[in-house]
Amino acid sequence: MRQDGAQGLARRALQALEGAASDRAVDELVLSTDASELGRFVVSRRYADLGAFRTPQLRNVGITAPYMHDGSLATLSDVVEFYRRGGGANAALDPRLGPLELTDPEAAALVAFLEALSSQAPRSVDPPGESAGDR
Ligand code: HEM
Repeated sequence: MRQDGAQGLARRALQALEGAASDRAVDELVLSTDASELGRFVVSRRYADLGAFRTPQLRNVGITAPYMHDGSLATLSDVVEFYRRGGGANAALDPRLGPLELTDPEAAALVAFLEALSSQAPRSVDPPGESAGDR
């Protein structure tokens, strides 16, 4: 999150949501403005949640590009490079996180590992008992 202006962005988000705190209002706000930068704060309204994001599962991550809450990283290689740099510098970043000292072959192996978490199976399947294989 760009911390400069985060407070202002948070204030504007709260104003926009005033009297319309439904999930739908939150969805519309984060899709139509840069309020998604605020992370979980938009839902919880707790300042401690500024810039906090749920850690997503990595199942099928090879077929769910683009990545991160804002789709800002196009490929898994971009994600690994992002982590190699230590993530995006911002005031909400945990100070325990820093650059990853990976060699190029290690980074390539990590991308290959992430790709291996994806299945060739269809992303949505019939309920048990109704698919062709069960007949
Ligand atoms: C080398 C180690 C790591 C790898 C390979 C990795 C991989 C990934 C990938 C592929 C995504 C994108 C998922 C998606 O958009 O569907 C992601 C997002 C995320 N990861 Fe990691 N991760 C690593 C380390 C960490 C660590 C150490 C943390 C927390 C301490 C973390 C927390 C998160 C969070 C919160 C997101 C979502 C960010 C957002 O929505 O903008 N990751 N990670």
